[in-house]
Amino acid sequence: MKGYIGVFDSGFGGLNILRALDRELPEYDYLYLSDTARNPYGDRSHEQVYDFTVEGIDKMFSFGCELIILACNTASAKALRRIQMDYLPKNHPHKKVLGVLIPGAEEAIDVTRNKKVGVMGTIGTVTAHTFKKEICKRDPQIEVYEQACPLLVQYVEAGECDSPAVGKALEEYLKPLTDQNVDTIILGCTHYGMLEKHIGDLVGNIALIAQGPVVARKLDEYLRIHCKTERELTKNSRRSIYTTDLSDQFIRLGSDFFGKKIAAEEVVL
Ligand code: DGL
Repeated sequence: MKGYIGVFDSGFGGLNILRALDRELPEYDYLYLSDTARNPYGDRSHEQVYDFTVEGIDKMFSFGCELIILACNTASAKALRRIQMDYLPKNHPHKKVLGVLIPGAEEAIDVTRNKKVGVMGTIGTVTAHTFKKEICKRDPQIEVYEQACPLLVQYVEAGECDSPAVGKALEEYLKPLTDQNVDTIILGCTHYGMLEKHIGDLVGNIALIAQGPVVARKLDEYLRIHCKTERELTKNSRRSIYTTDLSDQFIRLGSDFFGKKIAAEEVVL
């Protein structure tokens, strides 16, 4: 099979992106790969995130993806540039890999009124400062405050979004951002999209940038411009989901996060 749009994440988080793509651009065929067995990526080294991400995208290309979205901010921050500049030209010169950071950064620039933007992310994303760099490059007047939120991914992966411990962790992570009077917060890890309502309840009027709808809109724009890539994509509304650790929990939580019952197959990377 050929012609898929691939969506890659270290776990469930990218299902948020897939859900938005399924809603906004339903005609395309999507292939999702969750590296559940090696989740989380957030506090791994650059080298390891790069190696895992390359293994993931190689598998997805072998399954027929023409274009892959790294629906993982950590991989987008730590591996995307090297993949685009070095790995793809040498190994898959006709394929495309896109990230999720720039769409979120551009959206925050459009949304902020007081030019104070908060970013929640994994340790990897925050220490790479990619959101800050991308925002300040486009608008140097914007102040960006980054907050690492290391505990959240594991709660989402365990299906414990509603646990009191999540509320407590969120209060702690959000305080440094609200203390700075930010009017916009980027949910800079796809897993945090699952916690959007909880975060919204705690921050009141602050605008939250969740990546799903933003990425879907940007992909639509991208495909309108890149007609050659668009023509390579097939449109049979197929949804193929793979994970490196298939369990009943993966199917149950994955179906909750995707919003529809999923079927999945296990792969070895
Ligand atoms: N959901 C991913 C991200 O957007 C990674 C989370 C993790 O594996 O730590 O960064």
